[in-house]
Amino acid sequence: MNSSEYIVSLDIGTSKVRVIIGEINSGTINIIGVGTADSHGIKKGAIVDIDETVQSIREAVEKAERMVDLPIRHVVVGISGNHIQLQPSHGVVAVSSENREITDEDIERVMKAAQVIAVPPEREIIDVVPIQYIVDGLGEISDPRGMMGVRLEMEGTIITGAKTVIHNLVRCVERAGLSIAGMYLMPLASSEIALTKDEKNLGVVLVDIGAGSTTVSVFESGTLNAFSVLPIGGDYITNDIAIGFRTTTEEAKQIQLNSGCALIEEASEDERFLVKRIGSDVEKEYTQLELANVIEPRAAEIFNLVEDELYLMGYDTSIPNGFVLTGGVANIPGLLELARYELQAPVRIAIPDYIGVRDPSYTTGVGLIKYASKYYMNQMPQQPEVKQPQPKSKKTNNALKTSKELKEHGGVFKKVKEWFSEFI
Ligand SMILES: Nc1ncnc2c1ncn2[C@@H]1O[C@H](COP(=O)(O)OP(=O)(O)OP(=O)(O)O)[C@@H](O)[C@H]1O
Ligand SMILES: [Mg+2]
Repeated sequence: MNSSEYIVSLDIGTSKVRVIIGEINSGTINIIGVGTADSHGIKKGAIVDIDETVQSIREAVEKAERMVDLPIRHVVVGISGNHIQLQPSHGVVAVSSENREITDEDIERVMKAAQVIAVPPEREIIDVVPIQYIVDGLGEISDPRGMMGVRLEMEGTIITGAKTVIHNLVRCVERAGLSIAGMYLMPLASSEIALTKDEKNLGVVLVDIGAGSTTVSVFESGTLNAFSVLPIGGDYITNDIAIGFRTTTEEAKQIQLNSGCALIEEASEDERFLVKRIGSDVEKEYTQLELANVIEPRAAEIFNLVEDELYLMGYDTSIPNGFVLTGGVANIPGLLELARYELQAPVRIAIPDYIGVRDPSYTTGVGLIKYASKYYMNQMPQQPEVKQPQPKSKKTNNALKTSKELKEHGGVFKKVKEWFSEFI
């Protein structure tokens, strides 16, 4: 019997819209389909044109659908931007069952209690991330279900965002014919793939360098403590190449992709390529070394801005586990060495370790699937050896076969439906 469930993620980036279909089988994720489309309507990570964004989403969805030959209805979507705020939250409830065993229902109640905070009318709660549960005064519990207690507390982080930005995102996804099964903060989703538990506990900075934005996220004591989005990314490098080599942005993109090198020291004088110059039919030959002379200063500037932002957030580069780079720009050869030199700290690059998406630009999309699957896992029976009544969602598998439609586990949607009803 097939016991797989499916989660589809949607990452709306400045350069690309990415749809990834994940098959969840006993907690293991397999990527079974990917659809990408060039983004239109997104600038520096923010939606600026709804119609164009909708078109790009549709195109990416259609490509993914064709790959698996199944229609996509529900997606989990990432949200980011400087409109997002993190604030600490604390909830307390009395354990409800007679035998004092903590159940899913108590968790739900304590999560709700933690959300009873004053949110300004122009803001909306996106997610609540538990940091620790406390049972009768005993803290640092990550999953209290099945434990005995009288008083259950949860300490966590509430993530809020601007209603207008959330509205635009919801509008785009819905107009593309999809329903939102979950909305999660992109750096949190990426961290599921990019960072280890140890790194998050000891302190690490995740830097996602995309086309239009660079997101700097600081994780400490197992949780996201601060994050900021800089309006710079690979597009700046591409622009410099276009100006430096007097060519079109399209051509500059290709040059960056095919011959890019972020370290002058590592660049080759033997690697040569032809560039069509604007306003002439003549092609001029350049070397990778000349290209690196354009890329290195701009990439170094990005790292200097990351460092400045870190100081503004109250941190510095001496954070114990250093930096983890991800996002498409992390593909540029030599960038890792340049980052180590500029930041004077340990640096590594995170790439999703799944067939079909082994590229740092897929980190957010795959991370969204992993993040959403955690909610799914939470709905699984705690003691598999104890026979439980067949969960309703099993029907989904039959439906999947008969109606040929991707349906995800109800658990993933449960939280979302609540979120959605609150939003509407
Ligand atoms: N192999 C490569 N060599 C050089 N540059 C690359 C390579 N792959 C991707 N890039 C650059 O990475 C950037 C795209 O990264 P990514 O796909 O992570 O961005 P995005 O998610 O669309 O944008 P954002 O996150 O800023 O909204 C582009 O600037 C692209 O030129
Ligand atoms: Mg991105």
